[in-house]
Amino acid sequence: MKTYKLGVVGLGEGRSIMSAAISSKRWELEMVCDINPSMCEQRAEEFGFNRWTTDYGTLLGNPDIDVIAIYTPDQLHLTHITQALEAGKHVICTKPLLTSLEGSNELLETVRKSGKRVFVGQSSRFFEPMIRQRADFEKGRHGDVQTVEAHYIADSRWFLDKPWSRQRGFSWMYNFMIHAVDLVRWYLPGVTEVTGFGNVSETSRSYGLDTWDSMRFLVRDDQGRIGQISGSYTLPALGSDVEPGIGCVIRGTKGSSRAEYSNLRYHTHFAGEGKVTQSFEEMHDYYFRFEGKSHHAGEYQNYIEYFAECLDTGAVPLPDVEEAVRTLALMAAMERSMKEGGKPVSVDAIVRENALA
Ligand SMILES: NC(=O)c1ccc[n+]([C@@H]2O[C@H](COP(=O)([O-])OP(=O)(O)OC[C@H]3O[C@@H](n4cnc5c(N)ncnc54)[C@H](O)[C@@H]3O)[C@@H](O)[C@H]2O)c1
Repeated sequence: MKTYKLGVVGLGEGRSIMSAAISSKRWELEMVCDINPSMCEQRAEEFGFNRWTTDYGTLLGNPDIDVIAIYTPDQLHLTHITQALEAGKHVICTKPLLTSLEGSNELLETVRKSGKRVFVGQSSRFFEPMIRQRADFEKGRHGDVQTVEAHYIADSRWFLDKPWSRQRGFSWMYNFMIHAVDLVRWYLPGVTEVTGFGNVSETSRSYGLDTWDSMRFLVRDDQGRIGQISGSYTLPALGSDVEPGIGCVIRGTKGSSRAEYSNLRYHTHFAGEGKVTQSFEEMHDYYFRFEGKSHHAGEYQNYIEYFAECLDTGAVPLPDVEEAVRTLALMAAMERSMKEGGKPVSVDAIVRENALA
């Protein structure tokens, strides 16, 4: 079994993939990078790992590294992915791939030319209850799916302390709500139309941010199935016992299911089985390795093992850049609908206007 060597850039949330690589039989952590030397020192001490640099060029120039994992601020992903591909590396990039559709055609072209794999770390797909829900969906246990409802609702005012959250390119939709958008698109990949509304609260405005922080959408796919996507980020939340931060509900002719983030529960009601709640609480320490529940080492562990298998077999790791760009196109349609007071917007129109391949 081949072992892949990993380089990591951005050591805030990059901490979680350091933990995942160190715990994996398939990966070897080769070198890490952060522009901030005290962050490098902090991680070196935490993991007893001393091969660090503050220069991304040094990381890219390391000939032993097979894959670069990118956890820098959202606005830097395009540059960092492009540079990694040009240096001949495969890439794992955290969500969001980009902060808008701008640059997506160029990126698709760079990926094609490079012949390398780019995997987008949509971590919610790799959380235990969501993995179980997907397996039930693939077995057809929901019957004919009629609706998919996903939300990401959390009091995320703490996030506004990060300087890059107040810089051009940050939005609650692309940084946070993308988890819920991706879950709906995972089940309804053929979404054609969207309508929705958004607010900007005084909280966002007081930080100088003019970005929607509460949003509600309905989407419809080419077969008439309905999706619902919700997000609120600056309002007091009810707490995960009452309302899990992220949830995905699938309702079909033979059954319904609800996967919940953070409290590790999965509820099902399938034909002939009655109502069942499964708890994966015993996996708490696998998923949540640091303080609190705001890090994602378990999900990253699951996705780097998956990515290694894809590299072994030549399979395309999903979501790849093409799929992530389709999600960005859906979000561009969502933004337009909000701007136009809830008017239904066609996703195909966005694809055509941006000449997306
Ligand atoms: N569920 C998830 O998958 C998940 C969760 C949290 C964050 N993220 C993503 O991870 C990324 C980082 O978020 P975060 O919360 O860790 O932010 P952060 O600000 O805590 O960390 C970003 C780090 O990148 C470093 N950095 C900035 N510019 C750099 C450069 N040019 N070269 C090298 N290092 C540089 C900073 O010094 C900082 O340590 C974001 O894209 C975010 O969306 C994903």
